[in-house]
Amino acid sequence: MIRHIVLASAIAALGATAVLAQSDPISARKELMKENGAQSRIAREMITGKQSFDLAKAKKVLATFAAVSEKSKTLYPDHSKSGDTAALPAIWENKADFDAKLAEFGTSAKAAESKVTDLDSFKDAMSDVGKDCGGCHRTYRKKT
Ligand code: HEC
Repeated sequence: MIRHIVLASAIAALGATAVLAQSDPISARKELMKENGAQSRIAREMITGKQSFDLAKAKKVLATFAAVSEKSKTLYPDHSKSGDTAALPAIWENKADFDAKLAEFGTSAKAAESKVTDLDSFKDAMSDVGKDCGGCHRTYRKKT
């Protein structure tokens, strides 16, 4: 019984995200990017020794990046250019390049996730994948 309730609320939560993605892609993509930010913070803390290295957490950082990439694909439709967004018009002027950068980010995060075994390999992975954040923001995100 309890299992059914948990499952039902998980499905409801997924449904809500999907509905949000349809009705409000700007909020949905910002929420996803916030997850990127939160996971990057955890990565930075492990790399600088502020928190101890934990392989499961390290893999979760990279798995989250890969999931964000996948889920963001449909969240930049034409009608979401304006509003409360830091996305630059350049995205829609160079949509193929933007989509490629987003996909590349996901692919490298996924590849890195399977390679990470310890702190050193996590550092390498993050210096690699981390470049994709700035690489995309420089061109496609308003400076705040
Ligand atoms: C392919 C492009 C791309 C990649 C890769 C990317 N971002 Fe973003 N990011 C964006 C865009 C575009 C926005 C602005 C979204 C909006 O305001 O609609 C954004 C917004 C953000 C925000 C602000 C969210 C908010 O509060 O509104 C954070 C934090 C962020 N990104 C972190 C990251 C991190 C960390 C990475 C790498 C691990 C990353 N992003 C990778 C394109 C990208």
